[in-house]
Amino acid sequence: MEILKLIDLKVRFSTEYGIVRAADTVNLEIGKNETLGLIGETGCGKTVLGLSILRLLPENTTVEGKILYQGVDLLTLGEDEMRQIRGKEIATIFQNPLTSMNPALTIGTQISEPFVLHQGFKKKDAMQKVIEMLKQVRMPSPSERVKSYPHELSGGMRQRAMIAMGLACTPPLIIADEPTKGLDVTIQAQVVELIKELTTKSGTSMLLITHDLGVAAELCDNIAVMYSGEIVEYANIKEFFKNPGHPYTQGFLDSLPSRGLKPMNGMSPSLIDLPEGCKFYPRCPSAMDICKSNRPEMVEIAKRHLVRCFLYV
Ligand SMILES: Nc1ncnc2c1ncn2[C@@H]1O[C@H](COP(=O)(O)OP(=O)(O)OP(=O)(O)O)[C@@H](O)[C@H]1O
Ligand code: SF4
Ligand SMILES: [Mg+2]
Repeated sequence: MEILKLIDLKVRFSTEYGIVRAADTVNLEIGKNETLGLIGETGCGKTVLGLSILRLLPENTTVEGKILYQGVDLLTLGEDEMRQIRGKEIATIFQNPLTSMNPALTIGTQISEPFVLHQGFKKKDAMQKVIEMLKQVRMPSPSERVKSYPHELSGGMRQRAMIAMGLACTPPLIIADEPTKGLDVTIQAQVVELIKELTTKSGTSMLLITHDLGVAAELCDNIAVMYSGEIVEYANIKEFFKNPGHPYTQGFLDSLPSRGLKPMNGMSPSLIDLPEGCKFYPRCPSAMDICKSNRPEMVEIAKRHLVRCFLYV
């Protein structure tokens, strides 16, 4: 069975300007030991999708569909049951450790919390476990570092502490949102290597949200491309780079420095006022009449390679 399966997931926010459709009928799955990369332009809904799985969105949110975690629909669970899931079953490594760590607690106290809460460790033994974890993420002088507050660490060290926190209970699933953003290139490579090593060792599955296709190529088995709240392409990583099918994916890849830096036309539409047909229609170099007022469905263009585009119908 899949670790995670999203079925027709819709996430909307009610705002004074109208309804923001941040995720629209998303269907995705992640198998055991598998890493799924989620990529797409800023504002397309990646972080919202990640947070919706953990049910961490604010009150103005409506979520519809199913979020099956090991077969259980998380949308049907109570808050107490969700608290058990967060950290123990599904861990997170977020974009910015400074905002997702508690500035008032030492990193030792923060990382040891799941051991005390979920695994019944005594505080002192939990701290020993944290020191071991910090050693694994190659934190320099771990027995000293457990006494540090987040702001006392460098960016790279904080990211390592976040990873240790995420992996502390060897959870079956991790949601990592831009885990290497803001780090310099050498540290980035080390952090990627570390995530790879630790997830492989513990058999953890991962949803990896990233802008960085180099990081995705290094860590992912499969890739999903999101555009304006919709998944527009899904493929195995090799197939994805060899044979990108959606005009948006092709434009996205062509805009990368390694592929010619050709900028894409236009901007993504507002999620409050989306085009009626294909959401990429206003920017698409291959647009046809049918695309203007009809929404394309996902089409399988090769084995387990899906593209949402009328070019393949
Ligand atoms: N609580 C909220 N109320 C209204 N709109 C929201 C709320 N939270 C997020 N949004 C909107 O949802 C959309 C998706 O945001 P999200 O943060 O998921 O983008 P993203 O793909 O993660 O972008 P980035 O790559 O910059 O991190 C954005 O338009 C954002 O403004
Ligand atoms: S459906 Fe039409 S507009 Fe949309 S990506 Fe395909 S060709 Fe372009
Ligand atoms: Mg984001």
